[in-house]
Amino acid sequence: MKLLPTTPLEQVEQRALSLFKSTFPESGHPQIIAHAPGRVNLIGEHTDYNDGFVLPLALEMQTVIVGSRNGKDTCRVASEAFEGLVSFKPNKDLKPGDPLWSNYIKGVVVNFLRSGYEVPAFDAVVVSEVPVGGGVSSSASLEVAIATFIEAIGNYHLEPSKKALFGQAAEHEFANMPCGIMDQLISECAIQDCALLIDCRSLAFEPVEVKDPDTCILVCNSNIKHQLSGSEYPLRKQQCKDALTVLQSLDSKITSLRDANLEQLNQVKDNMSEVAYRRARHVISENDRTLEAAECLRKNKYETAGKLMNESHFSLKNDYEVSCKELDLLVDLASSVPGVYGSRMTGGGFGGCTVTLLKRSSLSSLLEKFEKEYEKHTGIAATAFVTRPGSGAGYKKL
Ligand code: ADP
Ligand code: GAL
Repeated sequence: MKLLPTTPLEQVEQRALSLFKSTFPESGHPQIIAHAPGRVNLIGEHTDYNDGFVLPLALEMQTVIVGSRNGKDTCRVASEAFEGLVSFKPNKDLKPGDPLWSNYIKGVVVNFLRSGYEVPAFDAVVVSEVPVGGGVSSSASLEVAIATFIEAIGNYHLEPSKKALFGQAAEHEFANMPCGIMDQLISECAIQDCALLIDCRSLAFEPVEVKDPDTCILVCNSNIKHQLSGSEYPLRKQQCKDALTVLQSLDSKITSLRDANLEQLNQVKDNMSEVAYRRARHVISENDRTLEAAECLRKNKYETAGKLMNESHFSLKNDYEVSCKELDLLVDLASSVPGVYGSRMTGGGFGGCTVTLLKRSSLSSLLEKFEKEYEKHTGIAATAFVTRPGSGAGYKKL
């Protein structure tokens, strides 16, 4: 299996500049070039909307937005990934509509306006290296890139968490996806060569360096996206709430699953459904695994970090029930290769990607294994890339 190449940011920027010129030939030279990365989560899955801990890193793959104020009353936006030019007036009454991809942009615009920021009409183009719908947060990178672009054309300076929250709100209201804050926050705040241990209650984060040259991070896309993900995500949130309500009858100081421990959960086990119990067991144990994994990575204890990743996968598969046979297969294949520390599904689940931590010297054996076994069993080819932890969103004035 060949690895997807990493396109340098400058090349993606050049593509965006050319697209701007061909889409808006009358507009002259653009004023702003903004970018924001996709992400992969090392561990801490389905914990963010439970006020818990996550350990994601930014990919080197970025979404780039090039554009200018246009001096009119209507915004015009094109994306290299979709046909057509979208037009809309930047006002608070904007509603989601067609095409669906424009909703991520409109949703962010509305959030700026509601918070009292003026949004001047602009012309802009979107060019992205983040695989669309591949489980590495192309949508969050689009939201954070457009928020960064608006910050730049408006000459504003926003708190990073505020931009991330605008993106999350856009996703909730304009894309009907009640996500947590992990994807937008890492896309905004990422630090080169580091994963971030994020406390999703306070939104505070600590960098955890991941730059050992003998170790690498492989992201493998199952190239499957089961339709279930849309309905199962809100259901998981509800099941966590159900478990929380029962835990609160034990101790009113428990305001989210993050505050509970397994002992408390076991005390009230009989008062909740078996499903709610397993969902909560995943979240509570995943928070512990995430804190421990961050500690292990800080001390270069890759064997233990990898073991925690494997445990995370099995908890997501058995207790949280968000994996699928294709992701399980990729994890099983990875686990059979010597030199692999650990492997797990990453992101919301029901398809998308796995993340594997391994010795760099084992990379070719692992790719060979995927090549030989994955398509044979699933009928689909997987794709993979190696990533270093990249940096977060930014912009340049041109
Ligand atoms: P992901 O895991 O990649 O975020 P989602 O299904 O949540 O997957 O979001 C994918 C959607 O985000 C796309 O269908 C599209 O609407 C929007 N999107 C992502 N990247 C782009 C892009 N480069 N241009 C326009 N829209 C995009
Ligand atoms: C993603 C979602 C994140 C997080 C993740 C599971 O799809 O956008 O906020 O909840 O699933 O950890």
